[in-house]
Amino acid sequence: MVMRFYVTTPIYYVNSTPTLGHAYTTIAADILTRHHRQRGDDTFFLTGVDEHADKVARVAAEQGLEPQEYADRIVGVWQELPQRLNAINDFFIRTSDDGHKRFVQEFLQRIYDNGDVYQDVYAGWYCVGCEAFKTEAELVDGKCPEHGTVAEWLEEKNWFFRLSAYQEKLLQLYDERPEFVLPQIRYNEARSFIEGGLHDFSISRATQAWGVPIPWDPEHVAYVWADALVNYRSALTYAPGEQLERFWPAVHLLAKDILRFHCVYWPALLLSAGEEPPKQLFVHGYLNFDNCKMSKSLGNVIDPLELIDVYGADAVRYYAARATSFGHDGNVAVDDVRERYERELGNDLGNLVSRTTAMIARYRDGSLEQTDAAPPWDADALREELVSLLDRFDITGALDEIWLRVRRLNQYVEESAPWQLAKDEGRAGELTSVLYNLADGLTAIAVALAPYLPESAPRILDALGQPADDLSLERIRRGSAIPAGGIEPAPPLFPRIELPAAAQ
Ligand code: MSP
Repeated sequence: MVMRFYVTTPIYYVNSTPTLGHAYTTIAADILTRHHRQRGDDTFFLTGVDEHADKVARVAAEQGLEPQEYADRIVGVWQELPQRLNAINDFFIRTSDDGHKRFVQEFLQRIYDNGDVYQDVYAGWYCVGCEAFKTEAELVDGKCPEHGTVAEWLEEKNWFFRLSAYQEKLLQLYDERPEFVLPQIRYNEARSFIEGGLHDFSISRATQAWGVPIPWDPEHVAYVWADALVNYRSALTYAPGEQLERFWPAVHLLAKDILRFHCVYWPALLLSAGEEPPKQLFVHGYLNFDNCKMSKSLGNVIDPLELIDVYGADAVRYYAARATSFGHDGNVAVDDVRERYERELGNDLGNLVSRTTAMIARYRDGSLEQTDAAPPWDADALREELVSLLDRFDITGALDEIWLRVRRLNQYVEESAPWQLAKDEGRAGELTSVLYNLADGLTAIAVALAPYLPESAPRILDALGQPADDLSLERIRRGSAIPAGGIEPAPPLFPRIELPAAAQ
């Protein structure tokens, strides 16, 4: 039976340009998608942008532009983000797409027809950064702790969604599906928020013109979250492709800043609209800079496109997956990217490929012969570990497992000292076996790394004379490398990078 895997990133606000924090979720979603493709699953990967936010309208006004005109100008750099990261997203959604707007209206109408919407006056503190109302208790000295900005008093007649009516249904959903939200700590957080009592929330704005008109009251527009969350469902109705509806429900990736919207509001909206709730949600941590969440409003960002310019997409993907345990917060720094690039990608992996190919070229005239001597580690076990770790979204744990094997192969080179074996004709068979085990181990490693390093993995296979177009998971097994000829010393996979003096 073919399994389906539909994964999403949050749709990012276009009020400014992408940071490494945004790239982070896109990279994670791409690694998971590529892994599921290796398993032969039917995959769909969605990312995109959230345009109808008040903060987008404000930035546009500052620049003297209409919001749509502003969004049209800045969207290019957001579309560039997945492309430059080498992400294989199937669609890039914009909430200003006609197909999306049409679906949002239809979706909200269903909720209305279901009796879950009523009109009331809302008065409260609003954080434009979060695009959310805040209780007094959530503010610190009148400021939003997440954005450090002063909340604004908002009072208007709104349409409300009866979230309170869904408390029991949500608790039931959480009880039936103990892995509905991962990691466990986030599941607990969401569940206790629900248990604490749910308040109805406003799904419309009267004072704002930028947004999707409420179908039964076109003077109002949909509240940005009631519009944005629906993207995960709307995309399947109009993205290019056949029968995309088969992909619902989705797996959502997000950071903890938007946990309530995704883990509480969204499933309730779906239930009200008569749709299936999401399949699963994974809530990852923050990439911090000096222990502070990287964000444009705090002014401490790393530009992912600049990093890619210097180190390439593979290195940025590798760094994102490896430096911080996925699911936890972690500090990031540009110097660390360089350090890992040189030490791990360059020395551990790149040198291993160069040495292996150079020894096959030198000692065996470029020919790889298949042998069945015991390898230094069990590739079948690695494959099984990868599947079980990645089923739990542990992209860092899976990469750690692969890297242990990279280091073990390096150790194997030292222990078996092929240069010594080459001096002794009586040990020719042993040398052939060592060279095969190295090539075979590297073949398994290349396939295992393919979701992380989509550019370098096929290059490793190529250098070893192995087919580079088939990256299926079954190739991570003992004896997967086939006999080959014409193997030449491979040029460095991750060459040393000389930074311009100003950037050092
Ligand atoms: N537009 C909303 C999401 C709507 S989804 C229906 C939004 N946009 S955002 O531009 O602020 O993006 C937030 C998301 O970007 C986070 O949930 C996370 O996925 C990613 N990240 C942005 N900065 C991040 C870090 N510094 N660290 C980790 N992830 C970060 O919220």
